[in-house]
Amino acid sequence: MKYRLLQGDAYEQLRKLPDRSVQCVVTSPPYWALRDYGVKGQLGQESTPGEYVSKLVAVLSEVKRVLKDDGTLWLNLGDTYIGSAQSCGQKISTLSKTQRGNRGSLHSIKKLPVNYRALGLKPKDLVGIPWSVAFALRQAGWYLRSDIIWYKTNPMVESVTDRPTKAHEYIFLLAKSRKYYYDQKAIAEPIKPESLQRARRAMTLHRYSALQGHPQRGTAKWADKKPTTRNRRSVWIISLKHSRFEHYATFPEDIPMICIKAGTKPGDTVLDPFAGSGTTLLAALKLKRKAVGIDINKKYVRQIMKTRLEKYLRGFG
Ligand SMILES: C[S@@+](CC[C@H](N)C(=O)[O-])C[C@H]1O[C@@H](n2cnc3c(N)ncnc32)[C@H](O)[C@@H]1O
Repeated sequence: MKYRLLQGDAYEQLRKLPDRSVQCVVTSPPYWALRDYGVKGQLGQESTPGEYVSKLVAVLSEVKRVLKDDGTLWLNLGDTYIGSAQSCGQKISTLSKTQRGNRGSLHSIKKLPVNYRALGLKPKDLVGIPWSVAFALRQAGWYLRSDIIWYKTNPMVESVTDRPTKAHEYIFLLAKSRKYYYDQKAIAEPIKPESLQRARRAMTLHRYSALQGHPQRGTAKWADKKPTTRNRRSVWIISLKHSRFEHYATFPEDIPMICIKAGTKPGDTVLDPFAGSGTTLLAALKLKRKAVGIDINKKYVRQIMKTRLEKYLRGFG
């Protein structure tokens, strides 16, 4: 089996997968109150952030069951502004093709009947969904290991004048156990010449301080080896790409590529329970991993994902 597709609600479909059968999960669930995928049972349409968080945590508890004990979950989440998230007060015609493609058409964005004030929220408030989910997952037993900032070089244009333009989303790295598979070298980044110079300067200083009885051997040893790469940083600069598919909320392939390289070995199984157009599955196949994808939308599963993966496997991807 190279890949397996399951159509239906993530929570229900996950129950069909055996315990400890997946090494790594890379996923981008629907964000709260942002987009209507037009399917009954879809996540993201809950009337409160709390309800959304509970539902997502329940789905991810099934994800935890199917993960191997040393497995990881890489969870991409964006936030919502009260009163503006669903419309952003912006005309679609002001967006570039890429931004339009990733945001969806205005028809796909509808206002939810939410009583924000009853929730203690005011119009214009940032809801703080990503961290609410991260804390709830930690509470549910996950190891919250890293908040990664996905910095978009070409963010959606916003007509706001009283706050900075939103140019980032979160990717949380969560582990099922305290010790987990993480291939640091596979995702190491090149060292900039300035950083090496800084390290050499630091080394000289450290040697000097070592003479004074304050040895700092770690840095000295590291710089002595004249490294060409360094540990991957927690800010990933990745631009939005225009989606060629009839799916508007795709993430760039670079995101699952990095997560899968760090979280798996060739032959391992990668899962995306909110697979959409199948970007995670495609990245997995390209890296010689097996892939499992779930989506509630029939069209995404039977047409978009299947076609995309088959095209790649037949050498046309
Ligand atoms: C943000 S998109 C994922 C996009 C994907 N990362 C890609 O690059 O194509 C979220 C997906 O979750 C799906 N979805 C929504 N509610 C779901 C549910 N309850 N169970 C499974 N899938 C669901 C939607 O149909 C949508 O395709």
